[in-house]
Amino acid sequence: MAVTQLRLTERNAVSSGQEEFVVLRSTAAGTIVLPAVCRHRGGPLNLATFDARAAVCPWHDSRTRCPAPRSRRSPFVLVRRGRTVTLVGRDVERTYRLPVLRPREQ
Ligand code: FES
Repeated sequence: MAVTQLRLTERNAVSSGQEEFVVLRSTAAGTIVLPAVCRHRGGPLNLATFDARAAVCPWHDSRTRCPAPRSRRSPFVLVRRGRTVTLVGRDVERTYRLPVLRPREQ
């Protein structure tokens, strides 16, 4: 286990082993950690839109459920304070920034 802090104004993505994850803020699910790559054909989930508790891939509209922050489906436990997110989980090898879409105004 490792503890990593991300300041969301600077970085919002992490790589852990062979996987990459992005920290997103959606209006429906709050702050979540999602795989950065869609399981269907590798679409960019950092550009997903949100539908209730799922991220909708921009390429073919597959839905990826957003794990609750402390669920076993999430690779990280995440705590958000202001613009800083603390991730506790698998070792993080690299942090970086990915572009994200702004949530739609409702
Ligand atoms: S690549 Fe995401 S739905 Fe096809």
